Amino acid sequence: MIYPVTVFGDPVLRKKAEPITKDFVDLKEFVQNMFETMYNSDGVGLAAPQVGQAVRIFVLDTTHNEEDEPAGIIKAFINPVIVEKSGDDWVMNEGCLSLPEIREDVIRPETVRIKYVDENFNEHEEEYSGFTSRVIQHEYDHLEGVMFVDYLNPLKKRILKSKLTAISKGKVLPKYRIRIPGK
Ligand code: NI
Repeated sequence: MIYPVTVFGDPVLRKKAEPITKDFVDLKEFVQNMFETMYNSDGVGLAAPQVGQAVRIFVLDTTHNEEDEPAGIIKAFINPVIVEKSGDDWVMNEGCLSLPEIREDVIRPETVRIKYVDENFNEHEEEYSGFTSRVIQHEYDHLEGVMFVDYLNPLKKRILKSKLTAISKGKVLPKYRIRIPGK
């Protein structure tokens, strides 16, 4: 099932997401639907608040990025905790399904060490760098109510203001279905 994607202005994107518990109903199906929604919108990552649920899950598929040095991954991260960020800061032009038609340069550290559980609640701890680390950090931010535009300087933010207002009113036409805030 493909969910509509929440966009800038939707309060769910500003909440701190809650941990997933073992009694979460149909967890595997929910994860599957998140993957479907992500692929349908040509995204490389998607966090649960972007489908209207303030819970701590994100999914990603970084296997199609040509510049990806370490091979990409296809994975769901449940109750993730970023243990450590390391390496040099680097700039990448980021986009977000919840910010249609906006792309801006964002600085993030190279490497991330992350703990999480899978769909069977087995614990994992792994380290990623490059593009996959970039997507993990971006998606993790969504669970904290943070969006990449928050990192922009005041001038850039001012320039984007009318675009963001338009998005929050649903005045955008992405190729995927969106949920207009307040409707
Ligand atoms: Ni995003």
